[in-house]
Amino acid sequence: MIEVADRLNTVEEYYFSKKLREVNLLIANGKPVINLGIGSPDMRPPQKVIDAIVESLQDANAHKYQSYQGLPALREGMAGFYKEHFNVSLNPNTEILPLMGSKEGIMHISMAFLNEGDGVLIPNPGYPTYQSVSNLVGAKTVLYELDEANHWFPDFKAIEKNDLSKVKLMWVNYPHMPTGAGATDELFKDLIAFAKKHNILIINDNPYSFVLNDSPKSIMSIAGAKEVCLELNSLSKTFNMAGWRVGMVVGDSNYINHILKVKSNMDSGMFYGIQKGAIEALKCSSMWFVTLNSVYRKRRELVWKLAKALNCKYDENATGLFVWAKLPPNVKSEAFIDTILNNNYIFITPGTIFGSKGEGYIRFSLCASEEELVEAISRVI
Ligand SMILES: Cc1ncc(COP(=O)(O)O)c(C=O)c1O
Repeated sequence: MIEVADRLNTVEEYYFSKKLREVNLLIANGKPVINLGIGSPDMRPPQKVIDAIVESLQDANAHKYQSYQGLPALREGMAGFYKEHFNVSLNPNTEILPLMGSKEGIMHISMAFLNEGDGVLIPNPGYPTYQSVSNLVGAKTVLYELDEANHWFPDFKAIEKNDLSKVKLMWVNYPHMPTGAGATDELFKDLIAFAKKHNILIINDNPYSFVLNDSPKSIMSIAGAKEVCLELNSLSKTFNMAGWRVGMVVGDSNYINHILKVKSNMDSGMFYGIQKGAIEALKCSSMWFVTLNSVYRKRRELVWKLAKALNCKYDENATGLFVWAKLPPNVKSEAFIDTILNNNYIFITPGTIFGSKGEGYIRFSLCASEEELVEAISRVI
């Protein structure tokens, strides 16, 4: 056998990849499992998006390699989207790089800016990919704790107790997954001041702004952001296009060029038809979000009911595609979700996969139909 590279010993198989095997085994044994685990939108993208990819297949250019920076019309669509929804002006030629989902951007950015041993600030709880990608590139992670009592915002004084001299990147993610905490302009200003003080590049990972959120915000709308911030965004949740793999990184052209240097050595462009579909999605009017959120709002009411039936507490002001719920005192997340999975055939995500600060919490996804949620409630009351 050939020995694997040392870096593989720094990560484990993704939690959902492992756990879904267990869930699928239950299903194969005839158990009617309701999956409230993963945040994969179950509704369709806008019809014009699907029409655009279908029509694109006959174009002469459809099957060729595509530009590393995407079609100009895609970057223009992304710039228009940022202007319309966040009031942020971006140069489509130099300040936007389309990505195949924002997840790959986490790797590209890390490869572009981190040497082995460099420090990275990562939220706890937070999206697990920040940690695993940092491990893969040999960076040293410095976890910063988020607390319900502080609205899940970073505590800068606590962070400054660490040695930050080798820290080059800080991952932030507002609206925050898994807690659903939304950002304020004040928070973004504080983050920018912190980044300037310590010479750190902040990346706001922003894929949830348009789900059950009345005030979408971009860190790039704050003065001074372009000097020290990048932002990732994605069409996955905004337009029900998770499987299409379309995202973007936006920011100062110098940063974008460094990321392009990595990315252009790793893939050979995004499929033409997907770009054509994405261009149509980005043109959607705000009615799209009204309709999308009317469905999620009804589902969330049902998930709240389910959470209550499980003796959990939750914040009704939280945003996003999930309900983050606190278990009764002394109940452990993983033991709890295993009991519910095996007794009630409902799969819920344990808070611990987002870090130690997720202990005592569970996360419900809103990517299940009302019928499934009604059924889930009936199984626990
Ligand atoms: C916080 C966060 N960032 C990034 C992603 C990746 O999204 P995508 O690669 O589909 O754009 C997810 C997906 O679940 C997420 O929750």
